[in-house]
Amino acid sequence: MSQNKAPKNNVFYRNQNWHYPKIDQGEGIYLYDVNGKQYIDACSGSAVANIGHGNEEIAAYTEEQMKKIAFTHLSRWTVDTIEKCAAKVADWTPGDLNHVYFVSGGSEATETAIKMARQYFIERDGKGSTKWKVISKWHAFHGNTMGALSMTGIPERRSIYEPMLLDFPKIPQFYHYRNPWGCETLEETSVKAAEALEAEILKQGAEYIAAFITEPVVGAACPGIHPTKIYFEMVREICDRYDILLIVDEVMAGFGRTGKKFGIDHYGITPDIITAAKGMSCGYTPMGAAIASQKVFNRIMVEGSGQFIHGHTYAGNPLSCGIAAKVMEILERDHVVENAEVQGEYLLEKLHRLYQYPIIGDIRGKGLMIGVELVKDQQTKEPFEASQNVRGKLTVNCMEEGIVPYPGGGAVDGTHGDHILIAPPLNITKEQVDELFEGLERGIRRTLKDIG
Ligand SMILES: Cc1ncc(COP(=O)(O)O)c(C=O)c1O
Repeated sequence: MSQNKAPKNNVFYRNQNWHYPKIDQGEGIYLYDVNGKQYIDACSGSAVANIGHGNEEIAAYTEEQMKKIAFTHLSRWTVDTIEKCAAKVADWTPGDLNHVYFVSGGSEATETAIKMARQYFIERDGKGSTKWKVISKWHAFHGNTMGALSMTGIPERRSIYEPMLLDFPKIPQFYHYRNPWGCETLEETSVKAAEALEAEILKQGAEYIAAFITEPVVGAACPGIHPTKIYFEMVREICDRYDILLIVDEVMAGFGRTGKKFGIDHYGITPDIITAAKGMSCGYTPMGAAIASQKVFNRIMVEGSGQFIHGHTYAGNPLSCGIAAKVMEILERDHVVENAEVQGEYLLEKLHRLYQYPIIGDIRGKGLMIGVELVKDQQTKEPFEASQNVRGKLTVNCMEEGIVPYPGGGAVDGTHGDHILIAPPLNITKEQVDELFEGLERGIRRTLKDIG
């Protein structure tokens, strides 16, 4: 890390204190910088590059499609690739979630979902509907645009924008390792977390609540945490009972990341809206979607006005849709989702060996979406001082060892707490999992020496 804040070039980067290694190319799970150093992309960027880098088939397809037609505006035209992509997505989603509203990324997807929820109630109950609030959770990430950030439960990301955010209620997450209820088992935590939804609905008044949003397995905010099945069974029932739409944010978990097509497939319920992005196109083009159930679609588009008051310029462009359809074809043909399940189990089991190091607090995840939480004291779960920047040190040390994790923090109280997300490309092999593990372990050992 460098403390030199002088402009590096003309790019407005996220963090002027970071030294950005320059990447020249990628191949499979590996990235190569301009000096030829090889890295395992152990987080797929941010759980995006699920079929790895430098895919020749996608490159060839893209060239061909770009020559045919790259852009048309979805307000006027339809194209085969757009329809084909929507049909493929509908085929992948559970239940009757068959109506794909295309966007260009995760934040746009969650913004779209809440506008869809609002319009659903307007179409059903008239313009006077009071249902507009969206209940979300602490330890949750739904994006950085204002509506999405209003749902995001990460204090560090919200604090300076707080006056600009919508007043959306927040409830506790199914964060078993640090659960506020003193629960001994994940099942108990899951029940308590679901009961918190009902309590909040009663506090706010169901007539003001349009939707509840949750990730099926949590990403950046508190990587890898997940409930047992009972959570989603209860949440589905509570939402139905109080006339509230259930939005499941699959931006990170969707399209195979957790070893199933969608994260929600682990729990056997069907939401009203799914949001997706990242793995939908595996980084080969910006892409996202809000996928509506029959009930939501019909109310707005068939029985209602027939017009969803929303839209973005690049949404549903034929090039991006074609690429996403091709990605899904590859995921299916090469059994990539099944591989994520197998290698995910193998990696998770292997990672448990890391508990021998005193800074490892909790390891949890599903498929290849795994979180490792770091602590100062394994017994008391005391976190490190934020000033020690343990997540930064671990990241730099792992990168020196050729492994790229995705760091984050603040899960303890908004400031304290360090964690990393491990989320390599889903077509990783067993030998490559071993290589990833060994590099990560070397990075942890170096970090132990650094912090004394
Ligand atoms: C669960 C979840 N929702 C929403 C988003 C926002 O997506 P984007 O960064 O594409 O706007 C992310 C991004 O990490 C995410 O993980």
